[in-house]
Amino acid sequence: MWFGLRAAAIGATSAVTLLVSAGGASAQGQITVYCSVQEEWCRPMVDAFEKETGIKVAMTRKSSGETYAQIKAEAANPKGDIWWGGTGDPHMQAAEEGLSEEYKSPAMAQLHDWAVRQWTQSKGRTVGIYSGALGFAYNTKQLAQKGLAAPKCWADLLSPKLKDEVQVADPNSSGTAYTLLATIVQIMGEDKGFDYLKALHKNINQYTKSGAAPAKATSLGETTVGITFMHDQVTMIVDGAPMKAVAPCEGTGYEIGSMSIIKGTKNLEGAKKWYDFALSAKAQAIGGQAKSFQVPSNKSTPIPPESPNLAEIKLIDFDFAKYGSSAERKRLLAKWDAEVKNLPK
Ligand code: G6P
Repeated sequence: MWFGLRAAAIGATSAVTLLVSAGGASAQGQITVYCSVQEEWCRPMVDAFEKETGIKVAMTRKSSGETYAQIKAEAANPKGDIWWGGTGDPHMQAAEEGLSEEYKSPAMAQLHDWAVRQWTQSKGRTVGIYSGALGFAYNTKQLAQKGLAAPKCWADLLSPKLKDEVQVADPNSSGTAYTLLATIVQIMGEDKGFDYLKALHKNINQYTKSGAAPAKATSLGETTVGITFMHDQVTMIVDGAPMKAVAPCEGTGYEIGSMSIIKGTKNLEGAKKWYDFALSAKAQAIGGQAKSFQVPSNKSTPIPPESPNLAEIKLIDFDFAKYGSSAERKRLLAKWDAEVKNLPK
């Protein structure tokens, strides 16, 4: 599925630029965007959209699971207009629960099949905007100081030598951590998968709220190993962090970062403008410029050279329909809460 993605994108649009037309910058109203990518990417995206359309944006950044919970809590009186970014699973759950609007953007034809599939599976209520593989990274200095062997596989993270040395987010708040939960269950089966997560719990120093936080903590040596999307590790590595990103030997899951219009939005036209803009080749190039190295869903946006090459990573055949379904996501999170989160170490 991934083979050739990179080749297809390279050279397709070499003139992609951040420059946006200043012509549309008249007062055109305001929209509220719930942003679930890194703040460093949310901000330039908002600026570019405001310049392009003249529409003002009120933006808040929250993790995927948290944003889903907020949209659900606000359903009777929606405060947000568009939810941009974050892992696909809670977007799929929101779609199934009628928390998002159907929309077919004229830009759909420009997208990779995997992004369109997200839209088809959700009956037009969410769409893929980027993709990226899950993995882990270790701090090379910490590892050397502790005299530990370099972990290469998910299994290696269970070593007793890594007690309190591994960090990952809480899957309730974080789509990254839910992707780990669903990945481990798909690779190992549910029983063995939960055994793995319970054993891993012994080595976890902290379940963070945000999915990418362990990449930052690994870069600073606050944890030896951090489990995050690999592109979040690369963001630290290009800034010189003593860190190595690992694609686990058993194979790994990936995300289809998604976007949805919030059901009951009072600014449907503005929300559609954001949606169309966010699918455009030039808007998707902003990610790489903001050191967010996901694979863009627009076929004409060049994949940043720093992006982990998904064609070279052993990706599992992730079942987005199943793990994004409301019943399955609720069930797995409740089981993780009951059986893993509060286990004594
Ligand atoms: C980071 C990644 C995104 C991912 C998001 C999920 O921002 O760069 O690719 O979609 O995390 O955030 P969460 O905090 O929900 O794990």
